[in-house]
Amino acid sequence: MAPATMNGPRTRVALDGVAETLLWTLYHRAMEARRPDAVLDDPMAVELLDGIDYPFERRFGKAHMGSAQGQALRARTFDERIRAFLDEHPEATVVALGEGLETQFWRVDNGRLTWLSVDLPDIVELRRKLLPAEPRVRHVACSALDDRWMDEVDASRGVVVTAQGLLMYLKPAEVRLLIARCAERFPGGELVLDAVPRWFSAQTVKGRMKTREGYVAPPMPWGMDASERWKLHGAHPNIVEIRDLALAPGRGFFYTRVAPHAHLIPVVRNRRPSITVVRFGPGAATDTPKAGPEAESGVDGTD
Ligand SMILES: C[S@@+](CC[C@H](N)C(=O)[O-])C[C@H]1O[C@@H](n2cnc3c(N)ncnc32)[C@H](O)[C@@H]1O
Repeated sequence: MAPATMNGPRTRVALDGVAETLLWTLYHRAMEARRPDAVLDDPMAVELLDGIDYPFERRFGKAHMGSAQGQALRARTFDERIRAFLDEHPEATVVALGEGLETQFWRVDNGRLTWLSVDLPDIVELRRKLLPAEPRVRHVACSALDDRWMDEVDASRGVVVTAQGLLMYLKPAEVRLLIARCAERFPGGELVLDAVPRWFSAQTVKGRMKTREGYVAPPMPWGMDASERWKLHGAHPNIVEIRDLALAPGRGFFYTRVAPHAHLIPVVRNRRPSITVVRFGPGAATDTPKAGPEAESGVDGTD
């Protein structure tokens, strides 16, 4: 089914701050998907982009093929992990936290999964307006930090939670708490998340990540260098495995020879954005540690 915008007039969208970043990711993903040799098959994103009245190029600049491909490959890496989980748990619930205008459901749907899309109320409203309703997709309009969405999850057939392009906008103590709550509530499930490295997070906090057109990326208070992902174990005893997901290979020298192997390359392995799978064991539920001042500086509370 096509997006609601397809044949009608374009829908005007005005967002700012963190909410506007969902237009950044959609723009880049869709511009990549438009190419005949695209690394991501996503006609829905292309139609969605075309149906939105927003000055994408004036605001964000030209979608340079590097950044467009990078965004698309990040999405594809998440897609591949979700598909792998669904191979083992075909009727699982996929929870997409901070989903924005992602069209991932239409890329990975196996006809049996249940999808729970979580975002802030204005964004859920926008999503409902622009994207088609689907019988196996539900929305929860609340913060990812609010336990309400967890109560909507049927965990009996497996749960994979994704946080794609979300956690960097939260505070470190909030990230820790969210991971701990997922570990406690979804034994046997997993969380797939991405992180910006600390140097990048620091630059955004100083307002220094800008495009030539003057768009300034909002602060990303949570940064994690790939080498410190083991610290996530400290968030909850149910965490049984933490591992790196290599970026799916793409086109051109950088995206075939460098990015997919970045975890092995000394100069870049710790300075790159990373994608991590956190797997939860079937262990007995334990009280979630409270986010306190001791957890403010690093996700494990020790920094
Ligand atoms: C960079 S966009 C990512 C959107 C989408 N996941 C993607 O990859 O295109 C960040 C998203 O996080 C959402 N967001 C920010 N804070 C949130 C919170 N506390 N709870 C849920 N969603 C949040 C924003 O509304 C936005 O949709």
